[in-house]
Amino acid sequence: MSSKEVLAEAGRRRTFAVISHPDAGKSTLTEALALHAKVIAEAGAVHGKAGRKSTVSDWMEMEKARGISVSSTALQFNYRSEESDDDVVNVINLVDTPGHSDFSEDTYRVLTAVDAAVMLIDAAKGLEPQTLKLFQVCRHRGIPVITVINKWDRPGRTPLELLDEIDERIGLTPTPLFWPVGIAGDFRGLLRRGEDGAPVEYVKFTRTAGGARIAPEDRLSPGEAEEREGETWTEAVEESELLSASGQDHDQEMFLAGQTSPVIFASAMLNFGVRQILDTLVALAPPPRARLDVNDTPRNVDDPFSAVVFKVQAGMDTAHRDRLAFMRVVSGVFERGMVVTHAQTGKPFATKYALTVFGRERSTVENAYPGDVVGLVNATALAPGHTLYVDRKVEFPPIPSFAPEHFSILRAESASKYKQFRKAVDQLDSEGVVQILRNDIRGDASPVMAAVGPMQFEVVAARMKAEYNVEPRMEPLGYALARRTDAASVDELNRQRGVEVFTRSDGVLLALVSDKWRLQYLRKELPELTLEPLVAAA
Ligand code: G4P
Repeated sequence: MSSKEVLAEAGRRRTFAVISHPDAGKSTLTEALALHAKVIAEAGAVHGKAGRKSTVSDWMEMEKARGISVSSTALQFNYRSEESDDDVVNVINLVDTPGHSDFSEDTYRVLTAVDAAVMLIDAAKGLEPQTLKLFQVCRHRGIPVITVINKWDRPGRTPLELLDEIDERIGLTPTPLFWPVGIAGDFRGLLRRGEDGAPVEYVKFTRTAGGARIAPEDRLSPGEAEEREGETWTEAVEESELLSASGQDHDQEMFLAGQTSPVIFASAMLNFGVRQILDTLVALAPPPRARLDVNDTPRNVDDPFSAVVFKVQAGMDTAHRDRLAFMRVVSGVFERGMVVTHAQTGKPFATKYALTVFGRERSTVENAYPGDVVGLVNATALAPGHTLYVDRKVEFPPIPSFAPEHFSILRAESASKYKQFRKAVDQLDSEGVVQILRNDIRGDASPVMAAVGPMQFEVVAARMKAEYNVEPRMEPLGYALARRTDAASVDELNRQRGVEVFTRSDGVLLALVSDKWRLQYLRKELPELTLEPLVAAA
């Protein structure tokens, strides 16, 4: 395939994730997006409300039902934007962020595989903790964020209040592309904002039964809108102009720099505003771009094939066999069956079984392009952050470790199993299942596991048992925060109550602190000590 063709394939792709707090409507939105892309004819057709358990199984079901290119990790569909002038059909890759009961380091790692994020906010709740955490990762990684304020069909806060909250709490300037006509709970449609906030058009929605189908849209001129909606329209226009007066207009450069965020108001449930989300992704979100390798040399999208592994899923019941690694294609074309090189070991890796595990249609699995996500089976040697390539060697920087909030001591059940225990700890550590911390006081026999979510500990326990025949003992450790520190601060910190310093396996010194009050106290009383927040340990 010529470089021009690869560039064209990359150019029509948009790879993104939804970041949200549980219940904000991520599953509902995922379904609505797929519906708009005409992947499924009727939202809810795949799973009834009662059957709504997790996105993972939803997607598997969707795949079975429609034979579309779906995995538990990425949903891919074609979309043709009505707004674009050319005839390009875009390929949308929606990468799932596991984030409900299984919130874990994986949730963050997914964000290393996307080019943009949709921050989904519940109109009644505003910014919630999990959203904030994920947003911080996006900010650190320079991932541009599109904001969607969901559930506008239900009573909630005023739009200006919600925007102020985003601005004040996370310092992200919201720049609405559309403004709601009607307050939360009385969602009539969207005013499309033009220069200086002046309305370009009014997209009026009509409810369908249960929001099951794409909501019919009437596209009206501002004059017609005023006739239809009267004062409600005039208020929306005034607010829109007010936003422009305070500089809240979209600016592509500022958006890509992560300083501003285009905002759309929507109701995922009623399918209102969903087309606008897709069109915005197509129009504004960046396509796959060159990625810097460990030497800061860019791997361009039209260079020979390369990919980054961002998630490894090991079956918790059975052994190695069902280990799945998910990679994001960075450059070139992936062809199923090609033999790639695993940069970390220099060994060849056969991709004969790529994706087939999902039972996809053959036609949908043969090739993948920059931005696409591919699942590899039998991936025993692969760990998050690893690189695969062909032809020209490349190695991408490792995925950083994220700030853990859960800590637990890990011990072997009996001394006789110690050797196996050590092996298991080293393996799970190198795979990034948990972060392993050690210090001289506790010794090697009882390392401390640190995790973003407690589910990670369960994975460790299950895998130790299944793969190493070791029954680990775990004991929660009473710390709630981790801060990066340095050698000069260690002794003083270890003298403090509610603090203990550890070395993580990547060499970073981490001070675990019992709670935020203790941390505030330390900052105040001992300002000379190094205690830096850790979102991503670069
Ligand atoms: P999540 O994946 O982010 O956790 O959220 P999910 O889509 O499961 O939605 C959480 C709840 O919010 C669901 O209600 C869902 O129907 C509702 N919801 C999602 N989007 C909208 C929206 O735009 N408007 C309104 N009014 N509700 C929305 P539930 O009560 O948990 O379940 P259900 O009985 O409604 O299915």
